[in-house]
Amino acid sequence: MNLIKKLDKAGVDSFVLFNSFFQPDIDIVYEKHIKKYNFSNHGDYKKSLRFAGLLYQNIKADICSSHGIFTGADAIKLMLSGASSVQVVSTLYINGISQISKMKTEIEDWMELKNYHSLDDFKGKLSKNKLNKNPFVYKRAQYVDLILNAEDIFGNN
Ligand SMILES: Cc1cc2nc3c(=O)[nH]c(=O)nc-3n(C[C@H](O)[C@H](O)[C@H](O)COP(=O)(O)O)c2cc1C
Repeated sequence: MNLIKKLDKAGVDSFVLFNSFFQPDIDIVYEKHIKKYNFSNHGDYKKSLRFAGLLYQNIKADICSSHGIFTGADAIKLMLSGASSVQVVSTLYINGISQISKMKTEIEDWMELKNYHSLDDFKGKLSKNKLNKNPFVYKRAQYVDLILNAEDIFGNN
């Protein structure tokens, strides 16, 4: 966060959070490196969502969220937390290029349902700065809240 803040002050226009680099793995039978595509999994966007939520309106730069965004619903979540755009790779390899138009349709349908006309109508709506009632949702205090309200969430069993 500190680095992002400094880069923002230096005039960086936008940040991609987070890129995933190719990382090696090792096969212990053949004792050699395994090369693989290193796809992310659907839902791996939680860290990206948290950082978008924390940074929105705290920096001038735009946020492009990446990592584990597979569907239109995922993209909407990231934009609600504060992203101006999303970057997708793994879902295109796994689900095919047609996934782009599926995601676009899903986003358009949702916007129509909610009567939103542009990204600005909902971008950052659930960012930390907008959550006057519960800004701690993006902080570690969320664990305390979760445990205190465990019955509400998980029921009595
Ligand atoms: C097959 C593959 C190739 C990639 N190539 C690049 C690349 O050339 N440069 C780069 O910065 N990131 C590259 N990435 C990382 C993506 O830009 C992105 O950060 C990452 O895949 C996370 O998003 P995803 O969950 O949609 O895959 C690649 C990812 C994959 C899976």
